[in-house]
Amino acid sequence: MTTLSITINGQVHGPTEVRDDLSMNDFLREHLGMTGTKFGCGAAQCLSCAIIVDDPDGTSRTSPTCVVSAASFDGKAVRTVEGHARDGALSVLQTAFIEHFAFQCGYCTAGFLNEGQVLLERLEKTPVPRAELEATIAEALDGHLCRCTGYVKYHEAVRAVIVADSKRYLV
Ligand code: FES
Ligand code: FES
Repeated sequence: MTTLSITINGQVHGPTEVRDDLSMNDFLREHLGMTGTKFGCGAAQCLSCAIIVDDPDGTSRTSPTCVVSAASFDGKAVRTVEGHARDGALSVLQTAFIEHFAFQCGYCTAGFLNEGQVLLERLEKTPVPRAELEATIAEALDGHLCRCTGYVKYHEAVRAVIVADSKRYLV
């Protein structure tokens, strides 16, 4: 057993005892009832289970949760899909996903949303030239699998958010 303390969407959870082999996915879904994070391949191949990890150096990244132990997140701050809306209002990216019909079954959506959010925050700190935008989005979303093949729509939705606020994200 391991003692786990973790901040999820700004809320501290723990300390609590968890099995060493408990996955982060099971911790979120089964222990905390946060079922927005999905379980797809279970083999770090689809990223439908990805969450955001906010590292101490101020950078953020996504991490799969299916093959990663909950214990390995001890002391960390993470964000899940449940944390994107504020006071009942969807985030700009969530709204764009809907407006662009980005998802169908929605199983992959939390992963794409988290990845897109990390990209937006990265571009806010380090904008890229407009000419590099398509490749930047494609590279960021690469690795996320959508069985309903919504790749183009996800890409378009992320692009729309960036282009609509180009002073913030582009140079
Ligand atoms: S369920 Fe975790 S990468 Fe597919
Ligand atoms: S919307 Fe169905 S898997 Fe992506």
